[in-house]
This record gives sequence, C-alpha cells and structure tokens, in this order.
Amino acid sequence: MSANPPITPTLLPDADSAAIEAGRLLFARECQFVWGATDLATMPEASLTEVAFAGRSNVGKSSLVNALTGRKTLARTSNTPGRTQQLNFFNLGDRLLLVDLPGYGYARESKTKISAWNKTVRSYLKGRVPLRRVCLLIDGRHGIKENDLEIMGMLDNAAVPYQIVLTKADKVKTAELDAVLEKTGRALKKHAAAHPEVAITSAETGRGIPELRARLAQLAEI
Ligand code: GTP
Ligand code: MG
Repeated sequence: MSANPPITPTLLPDADSAAIEAGRLLFARECQFVWGATDLATMPEASLTEVAFAGRSNVGKSSLVNALTGRKTLARTSNTPGRTQQLNFFNLGDRLLLVDLPGYGYARESKTKISAWNKTVRSYLKGRVPLRRVCLLIDGRHGIKENDLEIMGMLDNAAVPYQIVLTKADKVKTAELDAVLEKTGRALKKHAAAHPEVAITSAETGRGIPELRARLAQLAEI
C-alpha cells in the first residue's frame, strides 16, 4: 500500500446557476480585437482588468478564447504551432480584456523570432499591472511539461495568480484524463500562486466552457 494517499484535485465545481448565468451574460457581450503587441514598447496602456491565456504552442489558447466568446474566428487558430505571433488583446464588453498569447515551445519559426516572443510574453506575465489571472493551458493528453513548470515557477515568484485549464478533453479517454488530473493536482501543491481548482475544457464540444466563463466573470469589472 502506498504511504501517500492519492491527491484528488478539486475540479471547477459546478458553479451555481446564478454564476453560470452571469458568465453567460458577460461572454454574450460584444467582443472585439483591440490591439496586437509584438514587444513591450507596443503594449497598450493599462485600462481594464486583464485575463491572459498562456501555454505551449498548439495547446488551444486561441480556440479557447473563441469557445468562451462563442465566436469561431475571433482569434486565429491553426494546426501549425506558432500561429499566434503577437499578444492579442480583445475587449469583452468593456468589462474585461482577454489576452491571447503566443505559445512557448515548438513553433515553425526562426530561433530569433521565438526568443523574442518568449521574452515579451514573460515580461508581460511578470509585470503587467492589470493582469488579474492567467489561464495556463495544458494539453489534457499530455499533462504538465518542463516548460510549463518553468512558467509556473515564474508566476509563483511574481505572485501572479494562475489557473490550470486542461484542454482538448474530447481527445482523451476518461481514465487517461483522470490520471493527468491526479498528477496535475500533485504538481499544483508545490506552486504558491496556482489556483487549487483545475478546469477541464474542450473547445470542440464546449465541455467546461460555461463553468470557466462563470469563474472569469467573477474577475470582470462591473
Ligand atoms: P499557438 O497560437 O500556435 O500557440 O496555438 P494555440 O495554443 O492558440 O492553439 P490553437 O487554438 O490555434 O489550436 C491548435 C490546434 O488544436 C487547432 O488545430 C485546433 O483546432 C485544435 N484544438 C484546439 N482546441 C481543441 C479542442 O478542445 N479539441 C480538439 N479536438 N482540438 C482542439
Ligand atoms: Mg494561438
């Protein structure tokens, strides 16, 4: 028998119907692309509260922004890692700015370009004053990787709260997802700025989207 009992991470609980409705109403508001930043010099002035979507290339950041806002082509997505090449700011009903970030890790781009994106993304994540929450996307098939841990450490040090979102749940068998979830919960215990709840989502089927909308609506400006 193992000495350590298995850790069952808390899933985003079924939000009550009022919270789900608040999330639905917020994300039904108009959402528009307002700005694309390529480096710190082109970052927009701080205005609204920001929620950023970070994660490895191809994990599904832009697809999640589209699923949350119910718009298929708001953020450009692609099969090819490295699609999003700037920090894209979307104004959601003057209540929240959603920030779709370039991914880290593999991309079919030059080393210089990748290193420049990484630098900008890191500076944004560490030092952006209106940034209230980072949704850190992890592929539900693969779990947390080395470069995710590095970003998590950086966010812990900068005291930027983040929430793990497992993506592409439609592509994983339940037993595999449970194993990834268990491992993720274990890893989170070591990270001070990580929200203890893990969201499970699919941009394809809509799984977990109303619950995540409900959570993010709690951060929006009134
Ligand atoms: P970069 O901008 O390159 O870092 O990628 P990204 O993280 O924004 O990923 P993107 O949203 O462009 O999605 C990458 C690929 O994964 C696309 O082919 C999407 O259709 C696919 N994808 C994203 N989310 C899901 C999902 O929930 N389920 C399935 N089956 N495919 C998904
Ligand atoms: Mg993208």
